[in-house]
Amino acid sequence: MKITLCFASLPPEPWVEGLQKAFPQAGVFAWAPGAPLADHAIVWAPPQQFIDEQNGLKTLFNIGAGVDALLQLRLPPSLKVVRLDDAGMSVQMAEYVCHAVIRHFREFDAYDVDTQSGKWSYRKPRIRADFSVGVMGLGVLGERVAKALQVFEFPVLGYSRSPKDLPGIRSFSGAQGLADFLQSTRVLVNLMPLTSETENMLNHSTLSQLQRGGYVINVARGKHLVEEDLITLIDNGHLAGATLDVFRTEPLPADNPIWAHPKITVTPHTSARTLREESIAQIVGKIKALQRGEPINGVVDPQRGY
Ligand code: NAP
Ligand code: GLV
Repeated sequence: MKITLCFASLPPEPWVEGLQKAFPQAGVFAWAPGAPLADHAIVWAPPQQFIDEQNGLKTLFNIGAGVDALLQLRLPPSLKVVRLDDAGMSVQMAEYVCHAVIRHFREFDAYDVDTQSGKWSYRKPRIRADFSVGVMGLGVLGERVAKALQVFEFPVLGYSRSPKDLPGIRSFSGAQGLADFLQSTRVLVNLMPLTSETENMLNHSTLSQLQRGGYVINVARGKHLVEEDLITLIDNGHLAGATLDVFRTEPLPADNPIWAHPKITVTPHTSARTLREESIAQIVGKIKALQRGEPINGVVDPQRGY
């Protein structure tokens, strides 16, 4: 068995070492043009040349949860694309989103401003029942986030492509479901995959249906959100603000007005990082399952786009 690795912006050496340890008999190597053909590839944002040259691959393992960039390439229809499912990401995402929701709900930014100027002042406690949190995308990450938010007793809603039945979470799906979901949501958390259906889905029409004083947390992909529409709705007072981890262009360009917006918190696509040890363990487990002829989780459906 041969395994090749091709990462756009990550040193492959520790990954090669980890995989070689798990499969001592296999040939494990970082890809370069003209490299031998492999059976399995482990990739992040590979060039088209990699796909064209590696025409003996059975499986393409993506070292992230989202496969939107990979599906932009011309891939042979027989190639199985497999994404990371969780591998240590869901707990990070739960931490990030709960932090952002609580920071907004408890007005910690405003307290920071006060205390930095030596001011000891109280704000009126807000009513938790008024801060319903709607999680768009109830997959591996969204479900974990929704459950984490329930611990803090926020009313939690969910929206997904297919109907869900999760204890204590009011769940919606479909077109009418979307309107009901948005109108019942105060804090919106986006955890959908980027597909032709979900691109630009957070726009003036959808965001203006959120409850007045709404708040947006985008931790999925920048292209879900029409940034100008978000800014308009914050500036006209319909929305209270946003926490954004992902952007249409990354790194966020220096002249993007989001940087300086006082009601938008920016983080550099870091809400749930790929963890090397956990990811290698998951991929090794999946290769072994495939060798035994068993089914694996995380196989991408190219028609659905996730
Ligand atoms: P997942 O398990 O595939 O879950 C996707 C969820 O979105 C599912 O519930 C799915 O519905 C729903 N969905 C898909 N298309 C939809 C549509 N048109 N309308 C409504 N709901 C739709 O994915 P995941 O592992 O939770 O990851 C979600 C996304 O998070 C990734 O695709 C990636 O873009 C992003 N992500 C970001 C970071 C970061 O650091 N910022 C890290 C990891 C992942 P069904 O349940 O009905 O299929
Ligand atoms: C990160 O954004 C991922 O998709 O894993």
